[in-house]
Amino acid sequence: MRKLLAQFLSKVPQNGSAAPERGDSSSILDAPAHLFRDEKKTNKVQLADRAIAFLRSPNPVSRRAKAAVQALFRAELPAWPIYRALATERFFRRTLVRHVMRAAYHQPILRTMCAQAGERLMLDPGTGVPVIYGIDMILGDGVHLSGRSTFAGALRNDGRRPRLVVGDETYLGHRLIISADDEVAIGSHVHVADDVYICGYDAHPMDAEARRSQPGPVDYTGASRIVIEDDAWICQGSILLKGVKIGRGAVVGAHAVVTKDVPAGAIVAGNPAKVIGRAADAGEASEPPLTVVASC
Ligand SMILES: CC(C)(COP(=O)(O)OP(=O)(O)OC[C@H]1O[C@@H](n2cnc3c(N)ncnc32)[C@H](O)[C@@H]1OP(=O)(O)O)[C@@H](O)C(=O)NCCC(=O)NCCS
Repeated sequence: MRKLLAQFLSKVPQNGSAAPERGDSSSILDAPAHLFRDEKKTNKVQLADRAIAFLRSPNPVSRRAKAAVQALFRAELPAWPIYRALATERFFRRTLVRHVMRAAYHQPILRTMCAQAGERLMLDPGTGVPVIYGIDMILGDGVHLSGRSTFAGALRNDGRRPRLVVGDETYLGHRLIISADDEVAIGSHVHVADDVYICGYDAHPMDAEARRSQPGPVDYTGASRIVIEDDAWICQGSILLKGVKIGRGAVVGAHAVVTKDVPAGAIVAGNPAKVIGRAADAGEASEPPLTVVASC
């Protein structure tokens, strides 16, 4: 076998070698010309290599040449007053285009992708349409969200689709990821900052072998449900794991990993998140206050 392979390879033209003549009995392939090195291109590459080598060499002429090339690459015209006008024009043109795209294209598309969306929906202009799959989105009035987000649901075999329920006047930041196998319920006037991950299910099995081919286990008991109560603030980059409840007015500090319920009005931070204080205006939120809009 090895001998055969060696024989075969010896007859395959190598890059850079002459192309075999058509009908040449010593060649087993009539290889297309592009397999062979293009002389002109090779010369160009060599020239570029030589130019780079010259610029990199430490002699004074090279150094001066390098400085000249660098100066050329950094060259700019002075910031004449015309550029102020151009910057203003650019700002208004982009803003207009983004808002027209939002109003006439992205936002109507988003509405059709939601199971329900209230009045005064606000998709951030210029962010496109979020990635939404396998999840029913139920949005209250005045929800503000970014097109640079992902909302995903697990596949269930009980005929129910996972749900994301968002209350009135809630803000959902950029690059937010929400996944659910049951439900993620976010209350009203909640503020979710950018880069937050609300992880409603683990998505892969623990068993390494099963992980190669099978999706993660789906919870049918409701234990994985994530609840964020009214007026909570979920800071930048934090992660909420399955089954947690963030109490009313609570603050989850930047980059916290929340593994357990957060009491109403508490400030939590760290990994795993621990209580570090109380939010000033949390009030005495003792009763269960979640007021999500929909109940279907
Ligand atoms: C949660 C947060 C609002 C709390 O602010 P605060 O009440 O002023 O908290 P403090 O700065 O007084 O910090 C109190 C303690 O908690 C610690 N802490 C605060 N936030 C922390 C965090 N995110 N992770 C780890 N520890 C944190 C502080 O180091 C301090 O510890 P110390 O007492 O040992 O010194 C703030 O820390 C935070 O995370 N800000 C980010 C806001 C954000 O994401 N904005 C994006 C736009 S929405």
